[in-house]
Amino acid sequence: MPLHFDCNATTAASEPVIEAMLPWLGRPGANPSAAHEAGREAARAVRRGREAVAAMIGARSPSTVVFTSCGSESTSLAFHSAAAAKPGHPTVISTVEHSATRKCAERAGPVLEIPVDRAGALDQGAALEAIARGPALVSMILLNNETGVISELEPIGAACREHGVLFHVDAVQAPGKMTIDIERLGCDYLGLSAHKFHGPRGIGALYVREGAPVFPLLAGGPQEDGRRAGTENVPGIVGMGVAAERAAALAASGEAQAEIAARRDLLERLVLERCPGTVVHGDTARRAANTTNLGFDLEGTGLDAAAMMGLLNAQGIEVSAGSACNATQAAPSPVLLAMGTGEALAASSLRFSLAHLGTPDKSTQDEIEIGAAAVIEAYASLSLLAAD
Ligand SMILES: Cc1ncc(COP(=O)(O)O)c(C=O)c1O
Repeated sequence: MPLHFDCNATTAASEPVIEAMLPWLGRPGANPSAAHEAGREAARAVRRGREAVAAMIGARSPSTVVFTSCGSESTSLAFHSAAAAKPGHPTVISTVEHSATRKCAERAGPVLEIPVDRAGALDQGAALEAIARGPALVSMILLNNETGVISELEPIGAACREHGVLFHVDAVQAPGKMTIDIERLGCDYLGLSAHKFHGPRGIGALYVREGAPVFPLLAGGPQEDGRRAGTENVPGIVGMGVAAERAAALAASGEAQAEIAARRDLLERLVLERCPGTVVHGDTARRAANTTNLGFDLEGTGLDAAAMMGLLNAQGIEVSAGSACNATQAAPSPVLLAMGTGEALAASSLRFSLAHLGTPDKSTQDEIEIGAAAVIEAYASLSLLAAD
């Protein structure tokens, strides 16, 4: 079995999630719009899923949750809605957004980018100035997929309120890693994706504050109160609901978070001790318990993160360079570059993201020790290669 330290890319659906979903895969007539009993039962299952997702983000009304197919669709729906409500106005994003946000912003028109500092923290002053100019939408990532850094978005939400600007939060990476509170964030839209928190792939959600504009992406039926056409993915919604309940409980448990952080810290300590010159990217005090992004000193070796990943893959250790890459060359991560990391170090960086939803989905201490040993060995052999 490979050791999977790439859980910010996707996670395995947990056993309770799969158990809850299975009956819905084979059930005849489970279309929530149907008037017969099978349909009504499916509608009740969808309602329970919606309630669980709403509860996880602190939304008072479950009807504020619109189910989508994934995080990218949720982001697209928010941008599409804001652009239709306020055409011709620019959008504001940060320099460390996921490509879904960046692409949606570019498609919508002019984009204003708010920089971050070396730690990955937003330039709050620049953000507040941009908001005062009245953009169509401000969109910010809550928990960074590459570094795990958690952004301080409450002041952004408050300023958006004050200036009547729509605010979207990309919270795709947040469930299970931190408590999400839409009231404190002060957002109009908030995007989620079940496969990032041990739910199934193929189902996501967008929270839409009551009264915020929604212009559907798909033409079709009246599902999701006319906000997203298409027969509901009942098994996916059921699975997302169970995953949301588990994620909310995990996020609220200081003990569970401390346990995951201790494993992440062990991995970091073992690697930093034995791989000289390695740095941890981003604010280590304000980040997800499951994530570390390490920059290796491979200068002079002519090699980069892709070479390390190749060696780790060969040993069944799955990590990520945090950006698209091919077998021989890693493109430096735009997120690390935006944080002021030099090109060579950015191209020599690997993201380790541990499983975080508890037994049986948790990265164990043994796995961490095996993973760290493999990283140390890979680093040593690359350094030796360079010395030859
Ligand atoms: C922060 C962030 N936003 C959005 C997405 C897109 O989510 P999905 O893969 O479900 O479309 C991802 C997935 O990598 C992500 O990490």
